[in-house]
Amino acid sequence: MSEPTFAPPPRSPSLRQPADHVHQRSTESSPYLSAATDRRRDDPGSDERVPSDAVSGDAVSQGPVSGDPVAGNEQSESPVEAVATLGPTGRPMPDLAEPAPVIEHGGALTLALCNQKGGVGKTTTVINLGAALAEQGRKVLLVDFDPQASLTVGLGVNPHELDTTIYHLMLGSNVSLDDVIVRTGVDGVDLIPSNIDFAGAEMQLINEVAREQVLARALAPAVERYDVILVDCQPSLGLLTVNALAAADGVIVPLECEYFALRGVALLKGTIDRVQERLNPKLRIVGLLGTMYDGRTLHNREVLRTLVDGWGDAVFHTVIRRTVKFSEATVAGEPLTAYASTSVGADSYRQLAKEVLARCHDV
Ligand SMILES: Nc1ncnc2c1ncn2[C@@H]1O[C@H](COP(=O)(O)OP(=O)(O)O)[C@@H](O)[C@H]1O
Ligand SMILES: [Mg+2]
Repeated sequence: MSEPTFAPPPRSPSLRQPADHVHQRSTESSPYLSAATDRRRDDPGSDERVPSDAVSGDAVSQGPVSGDPVAGNEQSESPVEAVATLGPTGRPMPDLAEPAPVIEHGGALTLALCNQKGGVGKTTTVINLGAALAEQGRKVLLVDFDPQASLTVGLGVNPHELDTTIYHLMLGSNVSLDDVIVRTGVDGVDLIPSNIDFAGAEMQLINEVAREQVLARALAPAVERYDVILVDCQPSLGLLTVNALAAADGVIVPLECEYFALRGVALLKGTIDRVQERLNPKLRIVGLLGTMYDGRTLHNREVLRTLVDGWGDAVFHTVIRRTVKFSEATVAGEPLTAYASTSVGADSYRQLAKEVLARCHDV
């Protein structure tokens, strides 16, 4: 597979690990690795190594990523004390400040949650990042940009009972933002819902003038009223996703911590680059987010390490662990921040909200 088409940002010297430490982590005699090998006995899928060409030509580091519960115990016996402070991506966790309060709402930052692969955590991230941003005082609008309407359902709205949706806002005549916006059960979070009507939108858009910018035009009045707009893209790189990218200031790419998840990122980056060049010069990648991470499997740890090797600081420090609580919260039609407010998953999304705000200069 070809390398990502952009050079990952240089990492600061403080983020580098000492050479002898790297050596120790890639040696079979390492206390980390022998413990990891033991764990692999309970984890039949985990001895599959991630090919080093998955993301870039860089060598794949081995050994557990610190910051996961099991690896943390091993590291307390380690001669290299500094490792204990590393986060799950293998880099030191930054000290994320509490976001400053917002005095006046408006001038929204629009972020597209994008990955052409399905089931990687886009919708889950939109719901929970949106709810976490609202907890931090932001006025949030979530846009369901997928005819499967998972975001709409996940917020407890019945898609079959809707007269107006994103489809009507984009392609109907005389449909205003207020006609389509739905209040959700989460304070500070509004929704532009979707349903199956939206499935025909891509075909209809082809005949529109400035067809790539229909969403940007439709959302313009919302930018004046909200602080953050999150667009939940459908799993494709077609015209609807191009519309989302043309309307956005930034892209967040959720990725399941599995080998095949890595392979599509360069393709997505190509689409983002083209939209940035031709339609939306301000567009940039805000971050790549590892989701469904299980620190007990060597495979997950290696995928995360490979991602950081290839994409550097574009990868969020925050990683979302795999927990069944996300599915339970979806069935309940609530964000995890409300369904299980004190859970690790809810806290991870609160941390992600801080990291997003810090990367976007605290909107
Ligand atoms: N961190 C996680 N741990 C466990 N399950 C998750 C996690 N994130 C998402 N899921 C579940 O995985 C499925 C797909 O997630 P979803 O957010 O709908 O992905 P996408 O929008 O990319 O298709 C859903 O059933 C969701 O509840
Ligand atoms: Mg989805």
